[in-house]
Amino acid sequence: MLSSKKKTNILAILAILLSCLVTGWQISAWSLEPIPERFATGRETYLEYCATCHIAIPPEVMPTDTWRKILEKPQNHYGTSVNLVSLTQILIWNYMRSYSRPLNQDEQTPQHLDQSRYFKALHPAVPMPEPLTLKTCIACHPSANSFDFRTLSKQWESGS
Ligand code: HEC
Ligand code: HEC
Repeated sequence: MLSSKKKTNILAILAILLSCLVTGWQISAWSLEPIPERFATGRETYLEYCATCHIAIPPEVMPTDTWRKILEKPQNHYGTSVNLVSLTQILIWNYMRSYSRPLNQDEQTPQHLDQSRYFKALHPAVPMPEPLTLKTCIACHPSANSFDFRTLSKQWESGS
């Protein structure tokens, strides 16, 4: 029989091995572009908290103002509620605000992608499905689930 101290050690080592494996899987599930170190934790936090119910939305498709509203009122999220504590909000905000652009003064804050000028600007002359939902991105962005919006489906790859 193992002494209880040895058992604890073995359990601790197993736990560490397991967490390495899990982290490895999580990292390999994303296909991320390099960004400055000071935003990396914010992006990781964003992917951890905002990609569980739907795909992680690239920050540049919505104005900064939309992200601020979403992060300020996570308990009131498109008919559901997102669990965020203040440290998480700050980390995500630090990333989102640097990778999106503000609205002009006279513009209304869009709630949906099809109302966003930035989303439209990224898709010049691309006909969008109706209704445009977060489930439709993958048709043209086959790696959307890995947060890669650069890779395009065959149909669009050759065209642009
Ligand atoms: C508990 C599940 C859940 C989590 C977690 C979640 N969302 Fe959502 N989100 C939804 C649902 C449900 C909708 C509405 C249906 C849809 O568009 O899929 C939605 C819609 C959205 C939309 C609108 C898309 C559109 O064009 O209509 C944005 C933007 C968004 N979420 C951003 C976020 C951000 C940022 C986070 C992290 C802070 C987040 N979501 C976390 C459930 C969630
Ligand atoms: C009908 C096809 C189609 C759909 C649906 C679509 N996209 Fe795109 N998207 C494109 C094409 C094509 C481009 C490249 C446009 C160009 O460069 O002229 C693009 C470009 C982008 C870019 C810029 C990528 C870069 O190079 O950095 C982002 C971000 C993006 N799309 C996000 C989204 C999101 C989020 C959704 C879902 C709400 C979505 N797209 C739905 C076709 C589509």
